Amino acid sequence: MPVDYVSGVKFGIASYVACNIVLFVSELVLTDEERARAGERLVTLLERYERDLPETPVLPEPDRDRLAELLADSLPEKGIGVDGLFDRIEDTIVANSATVAHSRFLAYVLGPPNGIAAYTEAIAATINQNCNFWQLSPAASVVERSVLEWLASVVEFPASAKGILTGGGSLATLQALATALNDRVPGFRGTGLQRPGPPLVVYTSVEAHRSVDKAAAILGIGVDHVRHIATDEENRLDVAALTAAIEADRAAGRQPWCVVATCGTVATGAVDPLEAIADLCAEQELWLHVDGAYGGLFLLCNEMRELMAGCARADSISLDPHKLLFAPLEAGCLLVRDGTKLRAAFAFDSSYLTVADDPLLTDYMDYGPQLSRNFKALKVWSALQAFGVEAFRATTRRTLELAQYFARGIEAIPGLTLLAPVTLTAVCFAVDGASPAEQTTLLETLAAENTALLGPVLINGKHGLRACITNHRTTAADIDLILARLQDVAAGRG
Ligand SMILES: Cc1ncc(COP(=O)(O)O)c(C=O)c1O
Repeated sequence: MPVDYVSGVKFGIASYVACNIVLFVSELVLTDEERARAGERLVTLLERYERDLPETPVLPEPDRDRLAELLADSLPEKGIGVDGLFDRIEDTIVANSATVAHSRFLAYVLGPPNGIAAYTEAIAATINQNCNFWQLSPAASVVERSVLEWLASVVEFPASAKGILTGGGSLATLQALATALNDRVPGFRGTGLQRPGPPLVVYTSVEAHRSVDKAAAILGIGVDHVRHIATDEENRLDVAALTAAIEADRAAGRQPWCVVATCGTVATGAVDPLEAIADLCAEQELWLHVDGAYGGLFLLCNEMRELMAGCARADSISLDPHKLLFAPLEAGCLLVRDGTKLRAAFAFDSSYLTVADDPLLTDYMDYGPQLSRNFKALKVWSALQAFGVEAFRATTRRTLELAQYFARGIEAIPGLTLLAPVTLTAVCFAVDGASPAEQTTLLETLAAENTALLGPVLINGKHGLRACITNHRTTAADIDLILARLQDVAAGRG
């Protein structure tokens, strides 16, 4: 083949490729028309969702056939386009989702998202910052730092504190215990727990969240080395029993290492005696982690400060902005009093990720186990910017008041009994004489008839129902409606 011809062919291929590269438009970018249509559909969906909320069942009965169709679909070779997708999302997904934003969605510590969240989540997805090292996310790094400093100021942690936003309270506790291990076990990074020495013991109460056991299991401490300390008559960790357990472990040659106290237990909202526990931890040289996933952010309300004052003395604390700051899932937070300890537990050198240190900017990959991380801080920061902390203070205060109102209503109805004091927003009660199965049926009935979604509870061996009013949309009228229905139930009328 003549040389000219070969180079001509090569040139032709090269110019074809170049031309295609220049003209190339990704299949994954929407056209102007599609973008306009997607915006329209999204706005319509959000508007309709909000407008229909009062009439939407709190727990729609899932359309199983429709959901099963999702599994019958094979990997779609061809796309269904913007309208096809929105139709499917509306008919199949939204229609078969729990209505978390319903004002009588009162099961679990799970609030509806705040009103700005949907929009800021879209922005976070658009700019898609990778919050691992600052070069990939300079503004996000500062926003996260700002949120963490705000939260640290709420719990009155010192300026030395550092933290990280996490996937939730469970992960925050896991990361706290990893930090505590690294801090208290010599050579931990090298040997882990595979070293000679006494077994480490962690103490928490029988009412603590299961995430403490999970963290102990995952970190290799072992659930057998978690002491579930008895509680007092108000479901708070019993400090005398804790002291005795620590002494017994020392006497048996084990190594007491950490206490996880709870600021707002998941079932009843009890707040452990944090000051007394902090005193004991100081005396015994134990790491104190406070699980504040449920209750910690009630510190926004001045009236809760005295009860929760011990939070400020913890070595670490977990908080959940996706609970009391009504951020959409997921937004948890870990704060560590001495931030260098958090960094010591999680920072690793890697030649392919090194960026110059900058005092303004933080590499969050050095403060937790994740490398790629989404921009969780945007939704928390944006809501605080948009509404101001005063709005959150008012909201959390109202939920506390509504819980007291609910509790007084329960006490006033013959045939209903409160199962625990109401410290925060969890109201636990039982229908006198009802078996566990009957109470379960009652929960199902209340949900099916759209009275409310409440949850089950088991306290000191007693089964009951639990309304957790961690919901910024709940009103006194909602509580009245539930109480009226419960009055009928207690009177044997339904
Ligand atoms: C006291 C307590 N700790 C931890 C958790 C777990 O938090 P998350 O679901 O964010 O992991 C909860 C959840 O309700 C809780 O109430």
